[in-house]
Amino acid sequence: MVPINSVLGGLNFLFPSSTISLRFKGSYLQNQVLMAAKKACESFSKSLIEDVHRWGCLKQTGVSLRYMMEFGSKPISKNLLISAQFLQKELAIRIARRAIELENLPYGLSQKPAVLKVRDWYLDSFRDLRAFPDIKNMNDEREFTEMIKAIKVRHNNVVPTMALGVQQLKKGMDPKIVYEDLVEIHQFLDRFYMSRIGIRMLIGQHVELHNPNPPPFVVGYIHTKMSPVEVATNASEDARAICCREYGSAPDVRIYGDPDFTFPYVPAHLHLMVFELVKNSLRAVQERFMDSDKVAPPIRIIVADGIEDVTIKVSDEGGGIPRSGLPKIFTYLYSTAKNPLDEHSDLGIGENVTMAGYGYGLPISRLYARYFGGDLQMISMEGYGTDAYLHLSRLGDSQEPLP
Ligand SMILES: Nc1ncnc2c1ncn2[C@@H]1O[C@H](COP(=O)(O)OP(=O)(O)OP(=O)(O)O)[C@@H](O)[C@H]1O
Ligand SMILES: [Mg+2]
Repeated sequence: MVPINSVLGGLNFLFPSSTISLRFKGSYLQNQVLMAAKKACESFSKSLIEDVHRWGCLKQTGVSLRYMMEFGSKPISKNLLISAQFLQKELAIRIARRAIELENLPYGLSQKPAVLKVRDWYLDSFRDLRAFPDIKNMNDEREFTEMIKAIKVRHNNVVPTMALGVQQLKKGMDPKIVYEDLVEIHQFLDRFYMSRIGIRMLIGQHVELHNPNPPPFVVGYIHTKMSPVEVATNASEDARAICCREYGSAPDVRIYGDPDFTFPYVPAHLHLMVFELVKNSLRAVQERFMDSDKVAPPIRIIVADGIEDVTIKVSDEGGGIPRSGLPKIFTYLYSTAKNPLDEHSDLGIGENVTMAGYGYGLPISRLYARYFGGDLQMISMEGYGTDAYLHLSRLGDSQEPLP
């Protein structure tokens, strides 16, 4: 029996539980979004906007996994103070850049109510960071930590709210325009979500360092001895649980690799990526073999430990993806499943997590892989199946990509 909390925990990276209900309350959400957008125009002063533009021009500083690990392994007061002082500036710069970009999106995306709401969250957080006095002692540090914790919560729903904004754009577009071809939009979303991963990693890492009794080998979000086989096993079980709920059964998932092999990584990130890949494979195999007499072939996960990379291959015999469809699979909102984000759908089935349909699983997983210097590639044999290659950089010293 899979604890459903762990399932939701994994998914929360994409769609936090409070927003899963979003798709059932489309018009309510729209009203909220409209009201918030109105509020924004009235409530942000000219001087704040000027400050945003000043900070948005400053250089961002990337941090590597290795640095986070080494720095966090000695969470003494002096280090926490240095970390908080760094974050006060760094978060303000990163958030200012995103706020500016949100103002200048093509095709009128910036004016979509949901996007205005997201921009307001960024402006609110920028204002909080700038209004906080200089951090001089541990008392300030503790208050600052509480504040950035609250910023992280404020931004919980950014992904589905942006998705709603993009959907509003997609719906209102001239039918002659192919949404998947709007390269600027997909590139913007890649930059935007990548930056969000970085901001949340930095905040989460700092907050976690305050845990007085961390479990062994845990440094903030990082596990210095993470077993990829173990994480892949848990993620697969969680994905199978969703599949069983949706289809009544789920193909087997077999994992090949040394369970004792470990390397430093963020288990929550790996869980999310494998969960998304296995969910896709399960769906493909299930749909292909549902009405057939044949037994559904298992999904195979192979974990290889190289010197440079740890590579995880998720292989299925779910029929593959047509070559013409391949360029679309990493675009946002491209899905061959029914869209559960539909603003007007009223499915009335509670807050269930679905197998597929947002079209966010692959592009977001690729960003998580790239964040620490890895990558995600999909190879398909139409008529047979798909192989997903998830490369994770083992050295941990690549700098965060800073869009
Ligand atoms: N293993 C696979 N076999 C066949 N098709 C796949 C596979 N993986 C992805 N696809 C195709 O790529 C599309 C996009 O996948 P992606 O995971 O990004 O979105 P999704 O699964 O539709 O929705 P969700 O955001 O809920 O994951 C899928 O809808 C499906 O058509
Ligand atoms: Mg998916």
